[in-house]
Amino acid sequence: MTISFKDRVAIVTGAGGGLGRTYALELARRGAKVVVNDLGGSRDGTGHSDAALKVVEEIKAFGGEAMSNGGNVADLEQMTEMVAKAKEAWGGVHVLINNAGILRDKSFAKMTMDDFKLVVDVHLIGSANCTKAVWETMREQNYGRILMTASSTGLFGNFGQANYGAAKLGLAGLTKTLYLEGAKNNIRVNTLAPVAGTRMTEDLGMPEALFNALKPENVAPAALFLVSEDAPTNMIVGAGAGAYHASFITLTPGVALPEAERTPEGIAAHWDQIIDRTGEIVPQSGGEQSGVVMAALNKIGGLG
Ligand code: NAI
Repeated sequence: MTISFKDRVAIVTGAGGGLGRTYALELARRGAKVVVNDLGGSRDGTGHSDAALKVVEEIKAFGGEAMSNGGNVADLEQMTEMVAKAKEAWGGVHVLINNAGILRDKSFAKMTMDDFKLVVDVHLIGSANCTKAVWETMREQNYGRILMTASSTGLFGNFGQANYGAAKLGLAGLTKTLYLEGAKNNIRVNTLAPVAGTRMTEDLGMPEALFNALKPENVAPAALFLVSEDAPTNMIVGAGAGAYHASFITLTPGVALPEAERTPEGIAAHWDQIIDRTGEIVPQSGGEQSGVVMAALNKIGGLG
């Protein structure tokens, strides 16, 4: 089965280079009309350039359709305007890949709150802005595929990236509510955690062969599948160098304690049971935690 994006309109943010460029090229090769957004700044978010325009030229060179957008994802007005232009030219927006991002790495002790806020602003607020800008259109169309870009830092942590990690796990959280709110209008929302050799990772001291094995082209298949017609929803998928995997946020069965044991000492005494992963579940909404609480309550005598 060939996965086609014919007659689909796709927006890829931060597509002037790295992973986003690869997604934009592959979407266009498979028939999508693509908005290539990129501010074209440096890795820390300063400056701007015509990076988006160059990718549009690449797409046009093989006969694809694309338009460039040099807007800042952190600016809702600019993103609303970008979506309006795409709709005016092509009649709708079916796919949004929130990919734009910057780094301001430092240990939390040395990080300024300005650097914390800027990174959250570009990754988390930027993705929320772009999603907000397409949301009503996708609801009206009864069709939408949205991909958030998280990271291993957000899901699992990394020294020196408190700002980035907070924003990235926030994106997985955004996915988890938007998938619920979008479901009745056929809007599917997923999260991707890529691992790729790009300018974001070029100073990690990777051997050249590894950097090359981590080429963005190995991540693009997962990104495209996650915004395709038959995409799943509410998934967190990892991809890099030909490895593809999924992450889940789980809930252990835990314990229900009688009143007398509801003390810090009681928690300490039952800690092994609380964190025992036997029988854990993957809740599909927050309500399932309340369900576990209610079940536990019933086990120990209900509301009395
Ligand atoms: P990259 O630096 O090549 O790409 C990011 C792009 O976003 C750049 O072209 C940049 O100009 C653009 N951008 C930055 N701020 C923007 C803004 N305010 N508005 C519009 N465009 C803006 O880096 P890479 O690696 O391709 O990163 C893409 C995404 O993947 C990012 O969200 C990054 O955090 C994420 N990621 C990358 C990993 C990797 O191993 N390369 C690992 C985990 C996540």
